[in-house]
Amino acid sequence: MKPTKATLTFDKGAKSIELPVLSGTIGPDVIDIRTLANHGMLTYDPGFLATASCSSNITFIDGEKGLLYYRGYPIEQLAEHCDFPEVAYLLINGELPNAEQKKHFVETLTRHTMLHDQMSSIFRGLRRDAHPMAVMVSVVGAMAAFYPEHADVFDPRLREIAAFRLLAKMPTVTAWSYKYNAGQPFAYPQNRLNYAENFMHMMFSSPCEPYTANPVLARALDRILILHADHEQNASTSTVRVVGSSGANPFACISAGIASLWGPLHGGANEATLKMLEEIGDISRIGEYIKRAKDKTDSFRLMGFGHRVYKNMDPRAAIMRQTCHQVLDDLGLHDDPMFKLALKLEQIALEDEYFVNKRLYPNVDFYSGIVMRAMGIPNSMFTAIFALARTAGWIAQWNEMISSTEHRIARPRQLYTGQQRRDYVPVEQRP
Ligand code: SDX
Repeated sequence: MKPTKATLTFDKGAKSIELPVLSGTIGPDVIDIRTLANHGMLTYDPGFLATASCSSNITFIDGEKGLLYYRGYPIEQLAEHCDFPEVAYLLINGELPNAEQKKHFVETLTRHTMLHDQMSSIFRGLRRDAHPMAVMVSVVGAMAAFYPEHADVFDPRLREIAAFRLLAKMPTVTAWSYKYNAGQPFAYPQNRLNYAENFMHMMFSSPCEPYTANPVLARALDRILILHADHEQNASTSTVRVVGSSGANPFACISAGIASLWGPLHGGANEATLKMLEEIGDISRIGEYIKRAKDKTDSFRLMGFGHRVYKNMDPRAAIMRQTCHQVLDDLGLHDDPMFKLALKLEQIALEDEYFVNKRLYPNVDFYSGIVMRAMGIPNSMFTAIFALARTAGWIAQWNEMISSTEHRIARPRQLYTGQQRRDYVPVEQRP
């Protein structure tokens, strides 16, 4: 039987407190602590290891079993049968689109891929060697200035338009961040192309010769976007929710999400993983790095390994490994030394007591960099492509937050460990 109440009992004769226990559709129950403040007490959970910040219908993760569902559909089935626009529609609207809905959705996205022409000057205000994530944070944040009407976040129609604008324009912003960094002219979106092909066109085409995206690579990119589209209340999604909870312009919220995702412990791990593999360089040096990862005095961590929720294989990593095989085979790179090194590193780590005991498995970032590198995408763009994909999830989560009956401004409390009250001391009397 599932409990419906929790009783907090205290020592030293303090009065016990009863709190409701809430159950979701699947997954762990939660203790509703909202009334705890009335008793003059708070909970303490830095990093939110055991804190549910919201209720959500969008994505479910079972870290013990290595399960990931978008709106109830297993990620394996979506990666196999859908394309990214279809998954974006599912995340935002809650159901897979029928043929008519999909046609309208894709046509609307296609017609909004262009940026306001003046936005190209935003790029030019930045250093050429700026990291693409710094460019994306700046340009997406600047979109709030081009679309000020979206400050009215409680208008559902304006939220829907913001969703279309963001989903449609993010491939252009992402690709142009690369082109600007590479010193090449911006390539404009082509409405005859699908979402992944259009992005590859804007990334790799040049004015000097025709370009056609390799269909195998375009499908692989589409699958990478699906795998990265949402992941419940991760750091960047929680950032979007917190920023959005004050009623901020959605473009500013997504810019904040991009900033959070950039960190090497989060979305920046795919770029860091490839740098790590390049530094290890050879299978003979794996042992040295495994040793470093286990050494508490060494700040080195095995990038692409470990996860706050998954204590089993990240299902996305398994699909990404399979995509690796397909892409490398198609490109005739099945002997790619980086992939062989990654496979060996995974095998050795998963046989090592430290990783087994701490339940550290490869996460989505472990293989994604190898696939993107094989596709000709530079390391510095890996996290930018993660941000492109996660925009679908950020929009869905932001929409759910702002339209929820439980919507309140996010305002955590603290455990104060600072000074007691004290009086001002004039400078001449200070030691
Ligand atoms: C993503 O949240 C999400 O859903 C994120 C994401 C998404 O889709 O949004 O899935 C995407 O960000 C995947 C994670 C990418 N990051 C990395 O690959 C960076 C390397 N991994 C870690 O730094 C770490 O595992 C985290 C940040 C992912 C998780 O950190 P936690 O949950 O705070 O765990 P922790 O740091 O407390 O680690 C627990 C223990 C520690 O040892 P002890 O202090 O208990 O002795 O495991 C150790 C850590 O030192 N550990 C590692 C390790 N990861 C954890 N040791 C070596 N190498 C690692 N990679």
